[in-house]
Amino acid sequence: MLKTRMVAIDKDNPKPQLIDVAAKIIRAGGLVAFPTETVYGLGGNAMDEEAAAKIYAAKGRPQDNPLIVHIHHIKELEDIAEEVPPGADRLMKIFWPGPLTILFRKKPEVPSGTTAGLDTVAVRMPDHRIALELIKSAGVPIAAPSANISGRPSPTCARDVLEDLDGRIDMILDGGTCPVGVESTVLDLSGPVPLILRPGGLPKEELEKVLGHVELDPGLLPGQKPRSPGQKYRHYAPRARMTLVEGPVERQVAEIIDLAAKLESSGRKVGIMATAQTRQRYPVGTVISVGDRKAPLTISSNLFSILRKFDRLGVDEILAEGISKEGLGLAVMNRLYKAAGYNIIKV
Ligand code: TXA
Ligand code: MG
Repeated sequence: MLKTRMVAIDKDNPKPQLIDVAAKIIRAGGLVAFPTETVYGLGGNAMDEEAAAKIYAAKGRPQDNPLIVHIHHIKELEDIAEEVPPGADRLMKIFWPGPLTILFRKKPEVPSGTTAGLDTVAVRMPDHRIALELIKSAGVPIAAPSANISGRPSPTCARDVLEDLDGRIDMILDGGTCPVGVESTVLDLSGPVPLILRPGGLPKEELEKVLGHVELDPGLLPGQKPRSPGQKYRHYAPRARMTLVEGPVERQVAEIIDLAAKLESSGRKVGIMATAQTRQRYPVGTVISVGDRKAPLTISSNLFSILRKFDRLGVDEILAEGISKEGLGLAVMNRLYKAAGYNIIKV
């Protein structure tokens, strides 16, 4: 068991001494959790096979699920990517730093422990000062999956990291909450049509403005085989049983009121994940608004922390409203499907 040190650090003006301590840990093969604009990452030296192995162990992560490599400057790409696929240059110029992960053919120097044996490496440049300064100071690219125990909701604040990884990692840099709240969009440019392997913080519509037509990996549909290894696992799951209700808002509300009443009368403690527009409508259950339907960023940024909150409140059942799949809504709905284990009611 490690002694996990958690330190507060100002995201707008991070103390160089703190960055330095964290960077030294990374260089020495240790693990540091740090904030990004999407979620907290569990960082280790991407070029060090043993550090990668420690990341898998700390998370309890399946061995076949590759890690995303984080860089602070476009120059670092030369050390890890064999070639830049068509379209990637423009995307990197426009969207980096930001919540976009692109697949590249990997250089032999990137250990196969980092990429789970694949010959591709997923790379992104996070839009967060603490993350960028940490990577720069470490002097190596940093492999970082979300800093949660595998299968749990991703952490969007330092307390959620500590809840899962206390005693399993060396350090947590507490730089406050993550503004986007869902992970990066993972994009594969190797085929004839750009393919989203994981919808995320950069909306499909934004990619289409630059690339034209972009497709969503058909393997993301329930029962199919996704191309991105991580997408096949149950994920983001709260401890409570979760049901997602999809359809016109009025019908969602009616269905949830009905379900909540039935569950409560059978002795189950019910949590309702509502929205700003509907939170006043529920007569029973513990109601929490996830955000404003007209501003999906308010929803994405709260989503994971509210799933964890319901667990802390000890509810047995979570009933969640569906939202529109436009913009960030696509990533939110992807996370809700998985959190609910595809337990979906269409109304
Ligand atoms: O926003 C994010 O991307 C966060 C922050 C910390 O940067 N990281 C993150 O990492 O979400 P993780 O490990 O939780 O998710 C990485 C996803 C997984 O679904 C994994 O299968 C996929 O990216 N992935 C990584 N490398 C890949 C590769 N070479 N080919 C296909 N999918 C890959
Ligand atoms: Mg993850």
